Amino acid sequence: MEYSSFPSAFSTLFGELPKETWCCSDLYNWEGFWYASSHLPAAMAARLNFQAKDTDVFLTSSMKTGTTWLKAIIPTIMNPIGCMNDDNNDPLLKRHPNELMPSLEFQLFKENPNPDLSYMPSPRLFRTHVPYPMLPESVKNSTCKIVYITRHPKDTFVSLWHFLNSLVTTHGNDPWPMNEAFDSFCRGVHAFGPFHDHVLSYWKESIKRPEKILFLRYEDMKKDPKVESRRMACFLGRPFEKEEEVDKVLWRCSLERLKNLEVNKHGADPWLGFEYKFYFRRGSVGDWKNNMNNEMKEKLDHITAMKFEGSGLGF
Ligand code: A3P
Repeated sequence: MEYSSFPSAFSTLFGELPKETWCCSDLYNWEGFWYASSHLPAAMAARLNFQAKDTDVFLTSSMKTGTTWLKAIIPTIMNPIGCMNDDNNDPLLKRHPNELMPSLEFQLFKENPNPDLSYMPSPRLFRTHVPYPMLPESVKNSTCKIVYITRHPKDTFVSLWHFLNSLVTTHGNDPWPMNEAFDSFCRGVHAFGPFHDHVLSYWKESIKRPEKILFLRYEDMKKDPKVESRRMACFLGRPFEKEEEVDKVLWRCSLERLKNLEVNKHGADPWLGFEYKFYFRRGSVGDWKNNMNNEMKEKLDHITAMKFEGSGLGF
């Protein structure tokens, strides 16, 4: 496909796909998952054209599951080059975690279906929100590593609802009513959803290939971040040598520190236009209790139990 005609060449395809309105945007269903029109062409181009290297590292997730925490931790583990001892040399001081692990569908393939990535030093770090089946074949077939993070569905939904409302109210629109957002989430209609199918797609693959996919839960990261970070570092082939290293990584990537850095207080994502501060909120486990009533809790728990039944996956 010509660079100049991308992604407008997809307008015919969009006309043929199932469509739903989600908050302020339209989503299209492609092979069982929902995508915004601004992300689907990029995700399809990446699937077709991205060539993985064995040394690549992918961070994959559904939205609002703690990805930003890992977008900070993984580069800090992978690129300690002398900067471990020098806090003034910490890339996070000047760059939001989004910039340290570029996104296939939000950035790299958004405007060009076949971007030249040869400028990227090895090991290359990438992130994507696409479900496992949508990953480029070369990612699945090479020995590159995938770290997947998920989170309890109720907290994921609440975090997503707050995030969307931060975006819409900034632009002067009314907040999206909780009941509408909840109905969409329960039907699986949200960007990169259905959530449960997304989680299952990586969970099943991580059982088959634990050396390829590390499956993490936000709740475990919160409960014992040292244990989970050590597991991550070993999985990525960069085990910590000293206790101070894991302490340093966790301090640098802590919510309190990141949320108070100037770059994150005042910057905005150049590709998405979102203010960086919206990526940092409470970061607690069980925040759904402050936002959902009992009927909603029962409904989502029921869906989760049905979807995950027999998978061995629990929260
Ligand atoms: P809450 O909205 O519950 O506070 P994502 O990064 O996938 O978009 O997920 C966002 C969630 O992760 C938000 O949860 C946010 O506060 C939390 N988060 C962001 N950075 C974090 C960090 N460094 N440590 C722990 N949680 C973090």
